[in-house]
Amino acid sequence: MNNDLNTAARGNILVVDDTPANLRLLAGILNGKGYKVRPVPSGELALSAARGMPPDLILLDIMMPEMDGYEVCKQIKADERTRDIPVIFISAIDDVLDKVKAFNIGGVDYITKPFQMEEVLARVETHLAMCNLQNSLRQKNEQLTAALEQLQETQNQLVQSEKMAALGQLIAGIAHEINTPLGAIRSSIGNITNFLETNIETLPSFFKELSVERESDFLNLMQKSSQQITSLTTREKREFKKSMKQQLEQEGIANADSMASILINIGLMESLQQFLPLLQDPDSEKIIKTAYEFASIQKSARTIATATERAAKVVFALKNYARYDATGEKVPVNIAEGIETVLTLYHNQLKQGVEVIRNYQPQLPAVLCYPDELNQVWTNLIHNALQAMENQGTLRIDAKEQDKWVMVSITDSGQGIPPEVLPKIFEPFFTTKPQGEGSGLGLDIVKKIIEKHQGTIDVESMPAKTTFTVSLPMNIVQ
Ligand SMILES: Nc1ncnc2c1ncn2[C@@H]1O[C@H](COP(=O)(O)OP(=O)(O)OP(=O)(O)O)[C@@H](O)[C@H]1O
Ligand SMILES: [Mg+2]
Repeated sequence: MNNDLNTAARGNILVVDDTPANLRLLAGILNGKGYKVRPVPSGELALSAARGMPPDLILLDIMMPEMDGYEVCKQIKADERTRDIPVIFISAIDDVLDKVKAFNIGGVDYITKPFQMEEVLARVETHLAMCNLQNSLRQKNEQLTAALEQLQETQNQLVQSEKMAALGQLIAGIAHEINTPLGAIRSSIGNITNFLETNIETLPSFFKELSVERESDFLNLMQKSSQQITSLTTREKREFKKSMKQQLEQEGIANADSMASILINIGLMESLQQFLPLLQDPDSEKIIKTAYEFASIQKSARTIATATERAAKVVFALKNYARYDATGEKVPVNIAEGIETVLTLYHNQLKQGVEVIRNYQPQLPAVLCYPDELNQVWTNLIHNALQAMENQGTLRIDAKEQDKWVMVSITDSGQGIPPEVLPKIFEPFFTTKPQGEGSGLGLDIVKKIIEKHQGTIDVESMPAKTTFTVSLPMNIVQ
């Protein structure tokens, strides 16, 4: 059993010779060294033996009746199942061996009769070792090819998931963008409901009891409130209130302190004179408080209007961002609109301390493109710029037409790209960001999308000034 394993491991050799004495001799030498030998006396038998169970090596006599060694070798090399088996020719010393022919039809070596035991063994071992090496190389090669295919597949999946990641970040920002106006709307509605619940019953009698003069005072106060444009800082408010309180005290008005607060909140800073009769009225406090509450309602209504406008803008941008052209064909698009869409969606990060300078050429011509994919380009470039600036600094966007190309430059005032890093930034998976913050696929995706549009992307960088310039062919006959 053990022996069988050893012989199998050393190699399986087919020996072909029409002379029984030679067959016995060779089989003896090789068996003695632990090879498994199959002796056959003719070319025909050699072919069927090789096809039935391919050996590791063939020793093949050239001079044989019916089918000579050259012919056997030719057929072995022509057959898919046997073509990789090394063939060593055997020739008598006085045969005229056609070495060129032997090698041309696929022989790897030859040995001459009478046999020298060492020579036979040395050649057999060498060729078996070479054959083994070749086989393991082939195997390694196949493994490597499979690994490469798998890597490419993984990369494609990663690119896909990176797109999702960028989108995920954006969606988190947008959720915040919509939540802020929603919060403002909710609290304004709370104000309004509260006011109505507490005042609705007393309001009719309040208005009925107002004299003509007080009614006009009331309306004037309301008007002051609606004209109020700037909102004051706490400090300004404090100062206005202080001087207002002094004036009220000089006029001998009771509750000067609380009255001053209310009047400032309504938006009355000066022209106190006009309201002196009201202030001296015994019902002044009730009238002014009610006017103040109405003013708050007005303010709440204005807040709701601004908030809905803001939310609508975000939703509009979102719809634009996801504008997916189902036909899969390019469509003419104004590039500046796409950039604005992305900026709207990044509003939340931008407002933390980024000044955006827009320099769009008026009437920028349309570009024939895949708009949703270009949005990915602007998203990645703007995202990188914001990361480089840590959300503090200047983001400048230029867009202009030049010789049937539209060129967009995005410049940030971030730390810049060191010269040794610059040549690598478009490579997939290259990142200088901590794990979890960057996968290094952003610019790879950008480059692929721009190439799909037959455009180019260039970068120039120094500290506090990094510019990515995207050039896209308009592809539109104007
Ligand atoms: N505006 C920029 N300023 C400074 N460095 C930049 C800028 N844009 C890109 N880089 C550099 O190029 C690298 C590669 O950018 P890329 O967008 O491909 O990947 P990432 O931003 O690191 O990760 P991902 O985009 O996948 O989240 C970045 O890690 C950064 O070092
Ligand atoms: Mg990036």
